[in-house]
Amino acid sequence: MGLILGIESSCDETAAALVTADRRILASRIAGQEAAHAPYGGVVPEIAARAHVEILPDLIEAALAEAGVQLAEVDAVAATAGPGLIGGVMVGLVTAKGLALAAGKPLVAVNHLEGHALSPMLSAPELAFPYLLLLVSGGHCQLLSVEALGRYRRLATTIDDAAGEAFDKTAKLLGLGFPGGPAVERAAADGDPGAVPLPRPLVGSAEPHFSFAGLKSAVLRARESGRYAAEDIAASFQQAVVDCLVDRTARALGAAPEATALVVAGGVAANRAVRAALTDLAARRGLPFVAPPLWLCTDNAAMIAWAGALRFEAGLVDPLDTPARARWPLDPAAERVRGAGVKA
Ligand code: KG4
Ligand code: ZN
Repeated sequence: MGLILGIESSCDETAAALVTADRRILASRIAGQEAAHAPYGGVVPEIAARAHVEILPDLIEAALAEAGVQLAEVDAVAATAGPGLIGGVMVGLVTAKGLALAAGKPLVAVNHLEGHALSPMLSAPELAFPYLLLLVSGGHCQLLSVEALGRYRRLATTIDDAAGEAFDKTAKLLGLGFPGGPAVERAAADGDPGAVPLPRPLVGSAEPHFSFAGLKSAVLRARESGRYAAEDIAASFQQAVVDCLVDRTARALGAAPEATALVVAGGVAANRAVRAALTDLAARRGLPFVAPPLWLCTDNAAMIAWAGALRFEAGLVDPLDTPARARWPLDPAAERVRGAGVKA
């Protein structure tokens, strides 16, 4: 059974993991950089890249030690090769190339989004292609038909901001700190989701896409009006996002009748209100609902090692001159939508 070392460094998480092709996670180490970015209220690319350089070598050693394996025993080295903040992606990819070269192992260049897309399989062995995936993170908000390893049909994307980005901006507006998603979720627990009238952009629309920019502006106006408690704004905002995600996902299920399951992945999939609403939607459609455990939703290297394991087993390895890419769509045939996928 293939044993893969995976490396992730595309945003503000430095991570290394060892995963086997039969889904055993032997080690998964994640080092966050929240403290370094917190003063700026968002991820600073140069700071992130420097932090990856400083953290990654020790993190890989710790992961190998935890798994009880030597580099010589792994079958391939997988790393995120994009999309993401290019400096960080380069740090992880170059490290993987060096290790692969030194140990005489193949390199597997993994698309970060493919890592998220396949991550639900790690905890749900029964999950089979094709499935409908809602991929919601800080940089992306997409609905994909996951048809096979390497074959993804994009059914919808955001025409402006990603859902996670809206969570992060809302947290900043409300002074809840960084990272924003979990902070908004905590505040929302003490608020009334019906307290603040907020828009649900594109809900009910015939076009398949998402939009969150108008919601973000409405949150700003609600905040500036001084009429609402931060908890009520947080709860109302979260409810609006949930309503948008559910409406758009329901529409996509109609466009993908072949789907055997409804699956959610990406950082926003860690949100309990989002998970609960999607669980209901799947039940109404008679489909199984699959969501990775919370730690596998946000960025990690186990999902990169797992995607690497599937690619390695399929003979899909990459040359050592494989470039790092800031942009790398999962479905190259999908039309480019206004402003989509731009990570702040
Ligand atoms: O997948 P991820 O770790 O990184 C990207 O590839 O973007 O997703 C991070 C995003 C951030 O925007 C963060 O605020 C959001 O996921 N997030 C959440 C929660 N946990 C993380 N959003 C809402 N509720 C959460 N509990
Ligand atoms: Zn991610």
